[in-house]
Amino acid sequence: MRLILCENYEELSEQAAKLVASQIILKPDSVLGLATGQTPVGIYQNLVKMNKAGEIDFSNIVTFNLDEYYPIQNNNDQSYHYFMQENLFKKVNINPKNTHIPDGEAADPEEECIKYEEEIKKYGGIDLQILGIGQNGHIGFNEPDVSLYTETHLTDLTRSTIEANARFFNDENEVPKQALTMGIATILKSKKIILLASGANKSRVVSELLNGDINTSIPATMLKVHPDVVLICDKDAYSGIRLGIDIGGTSVKFAVLEDNKLIYKSSIPTNKESMDIFVKEIVVECYKIKNNYSYKAIGVGTPGRISDGLVTAANLPFKNTHLAKELKKYIDLPVNVDNDANCAALGEFEFGVGKDMDNIIMVTLGTGVGGGIIIDGRICHGRYSMGEIGHIIVQSKGGLPCPCGQTGCWEQYASVTALIREGEKACLENKDSLLYDLYLKNNNKLDGKLIFDALEQNCETAQKVFDEYIEWLVIGLKNLINIFGPDAIILAGGITQRGSILIDAVRNALDTPVKIEISKLQNDAGALGAAML
Ligand code: PGA
Repeated sequence: MRLILCENYEELSEQAAKLVASQIILKPDSVLGLATGQTPVGIYQNLVKMNKAGEIDFSNIVTFNLDEYYPIQNNNDQSYHYFMQENLFKKVNINPKNTHIPDGEAADPEEECIKYEEEIKKYGGIDLQILGIGQNGHIGFNEPDVSLYTETHLTDLTRSTIEANARFFNDENEVPKQALTMGIATILKSKKIILLASGANKSRVVSELLNGDINTSIPATMLKVHPDVVLICDKDAYSGIRLGIDIGGTSVKFAVLEDNKLIYKSSIPTNKESMDIFVKEIVVECYKIKNNYSYKAIGVGTPGRISDGLVTAANLPFKNTHLAKELKKYIDLPVNVDNDANCAALGEFEFGVGKDMDNIIMVTLGTGVGGGIIIDGRICHGRYSMGEIGHIIVQSKGGLPCPCGQTGCWEQYASVTALIREGEKACLENKDSLLYDLYLKNNNKLDGKLIFDALEQNCETAQKVFDEYIEWLVIGLKNLINIFGPDAIILAGGITQRGSILIDAVRNALDTPVKIEISKLQNDAGALGAAML
């Protein structure tokens, strides 16, 4: 779905009218699907002007309207027959015989629906369909339901539509309770679709549409399967403000993005004890942020495995926790949850090194090896542990055991934990080495920083450990490159921050045209990516 964001309703009406006009110019006998309601009025005004100025010709245009109340007299000033006459038909040079609107006076509404559907087919289908969107997500009168009709049908209007449309009638009781409407399949068969949304009362549904999944309770989300939909939105209907939350082992980071720019960040400590309390602490921070930034959607990155929305994370109080539902108990906004490494990859893809690329793999070197794979701009998901690149097997026989249950997982060799483990082993075997001195001075412990200190001072023992570490790191990277052929591999984590030692070694060892880069966003990548979910 392509988005055209307009400053206001006037601009929206002009933009949409221009698209309709080009359709008419390119194909003078186009079949147009037309909509009623408040939103398309401005388009019709623009089209009338263009027609009067001789810029567009309606003489061979055929139209089919989306819907009509049922029952209603065609001459009732609230009927869509009346609306279309007043707003368009009687003001342009259209042949009335070419205009079609479901008949609210039909004695047999079901037969009328069959006839209407056949008529559309007879004209070869709709070339360009204009759609408004109801506050409840309806398109045409396809109301939210557990399942949706495909073709033109008689439908009951929902309470919220009756209330929303009462503004056009003297009182709510006058609003017909039923309507004849094209079905979802009728609409989806249109070659092109223009969806219009104007005004703050549409911002919630627009956000659901842009950020939520396809679901019958917001019928407009069905449009996501159509290859050629343009959503034309004014600023009131579109809030580009999103909140990203990156849950980590020690802190939870929050990032507010407006029109894809970071405008605020904060963090709170991670609560590892109680899921309920942790969720509430996150919610409190969300509310605090909401006081200043009116975000319309939330994305959350969390460690652990996510299956059917259920999160299980070893170091967090999440065990088959439906995190999105837990948050939605308190926050009435769309919430999307994904793995934290996937979010970091998405963040780097959208805002960091991967900004101008299509396919990247982010590899985070830390306690373990994490990562995210972005192919054609989308996170590569699968069931269970797909994308858990730290658990590709790099040594089958005699491989080191991994807490995941496998042996020989990459992270057992390429994580910083593995580097330190091997460093400690080597320095104990080489007590005359600088590495051993550093180990002793640090209370018989090494860390990544000390290994790099020794490397910089030309310690042979450290160099040997590092070279072997690079070999293991490169085995996994080669596998990733061979399988996915990414534009770039982006490395993140504290050890990538130590000058160019690591990246130079990896580039030399890999000798590949694939770009090997260091993450630009590092710790911010997760929250930024989460906001983009
Ligand atoms: P509106 O209605 O343009 O009057 O807001 C849109 C719709 O309900 O489809």
